[in-house]
Amino acid sequence: MVVKLGLIGCGAIARTHVINIKKNIKNAKIVAIYDLYLTAAQKLIEDTKIESKICYSIDELINENIDAVMICSRNDAHLEPILKAIHHNKYVFTEKPLVDNAKDCKKIIAAEISGNKRLIQVGFMRRYDPFYQEMKTEMTSGNIGEPLMGYCRHFTTHPATSYFKTENMINDAFIHEIDILHWLFEDRYQSIQVQFARQNSLNINEQLYDPQIVTIKFKKGAIVNTYLSQNSQYGYDVMCQIIGEKGIVQLPDMPSIETRYNQNISRHIDKDWTKRFDLAYKLEIKDFINRVAREMPLHGPSSWDGYIAAVTADAAIQSQKNQKPVQISYDKKPDFY
Ligand SMILES: NC(=O)c1ccc[n+]([C@@H]2O[C@H](COP(=O)([O-])OP(=O)(O)OC[C@H]3O[C@@H](n4cnc5c(N)ncnc54)[C@H](O)[C@@H]3O)[C@@H](O)[C@H]2O)c1
Repeated sequence: MVVKLGLIGCGAIARTHVINIKKNIKNAKIVAIYDLYLTAAQKLIEDTKIESKICYSIDELINENIDAVMICSRNDAHLEPILKAIHHNKYVFTEKPLVDNAKDCKKIIAAEISGNKRLIQVGFMRRYDPFYQEMKTEMTSGNIGEPLMGYCRHFTTHPATSYFKTENMINDAFIHEIDILHWLFEDRYQSIQVQFARQNSLNINEQLYDPQIVTIKFKKGAIVNTYLSQNSQYGYDVMCQIIGEKGIVQLPDMPSIETRYNQNISRHIDKDWTKRFDLAYKLEIKDFINRVAREMPLHGPSSWDGYIAAVTADAAIQSQKNQKPVQISYDKKPDFY
C-alpha cells in the first residue's frame, strides 16, 4: 500500500521530510499540502518538485483522500490539525512538541483514547538516532551501574526561527533533552531549574536570553545539567554524557572523521542543524510509514510522551521567570499507552 500523506506547514523541517520521502520512501506520497502562507506551499512544490495539490485550509486537506497527516507547522499551530485528524480517524506524524502546553496535550490524549486507536507519533527523532540507541542499550545492560548524573550540550549556530524568544529555548530546543533523558534513565522527573548565564553579546535577538543552563532532577535522585545556546557561532553541537556507578557512557563528540595534518588534529562540525540527525529523521518517518501501510500499532514516541515533555517544559518555562527550581507532577499514565 502507498500511504497518502497530507502535509501541514511548509517550512524548514517540512523540506527535510519531503526530500527524504521523495528520495527514500517508496511506499509514501505527499498528495496534498497546506500552509498558512500560500507562497510557502508554492515554494516547497517549486523547490522539491513534488506533485501535490495545494489546499487552502486544514479542513480541505483533511477531507482529501489521505491516510495520514504530517504536521510541520509552528509549535502553537499543532493542536487544531491533530484534533481534526483524530476526528477523521487519520494517522498523524507531528513534529515536536506535540503541542506547546500540557493542558492541550490532555485534549489530544482524551480524543485519541476515545477513538481507541493509537494514531499519533511525535517527532522526537533522537530515539531513532543509532548513537542514542547504543547509549540506551549500554545503560540497560547495567555495565555502568545505576545512572547518577549527566551533562548535555545543545548548541545551535543561530536561532532556528525568526520568532525565537527566551521560552523557545525550552519548547524548540531543550524539549529534545526532556524526551531523550527520561527515555534513557527510565525514570520520571521530580524538579527542574533554569538559570541564565552571562548574556552572549553576539546574540542579536532582544527577546532571547542566551545562554541558559537547565538542571533537571529525577525521582530516584540523579541530576543532569544541560547547557543551551542558540548562538554558538561555530556549529550545531549536541552532546550527552551519563555518569553511572561504575562507568560513563556518552555520545561521540562529533560523528565525523578525524584528520591529523600539519601539527593539527581536526574534525569538521556542521553549522546546519539538519545534518547531525539526518539518519534519525529518515528512520522515524520510515517507521511511521511502514506501520501505517501495514496497519500495525504505532511504536514511536506517543501522545503520552508528548504530554510528559509538555508538563516538564511548562515547569521549565515557569522556572525561567525567577530561575528557582519548580516541582513537577504528572497524571497517572493511562493503560492505553
Ligand atoms: N525534530 C526536529 O529536529 C525539528 C527541527 C526543526 C523544527 N522542528 C519543529 O517543526 C515545526 C516547524 O519548524 P520549522 O523549523 O520548519 O519552522 P518554519 O518557521 O521554518 O516553518 C513553519 C511553517 O509553518 C507555517 N505555519 C505557521 N502557522 C501555521 C498554521 N496555523 N497553519 C499552517 N501552517 C502554518 C509557516 O508559514 C511556515 O511555513 C515546529 O514545531 C518545530 O518545533 C523540529
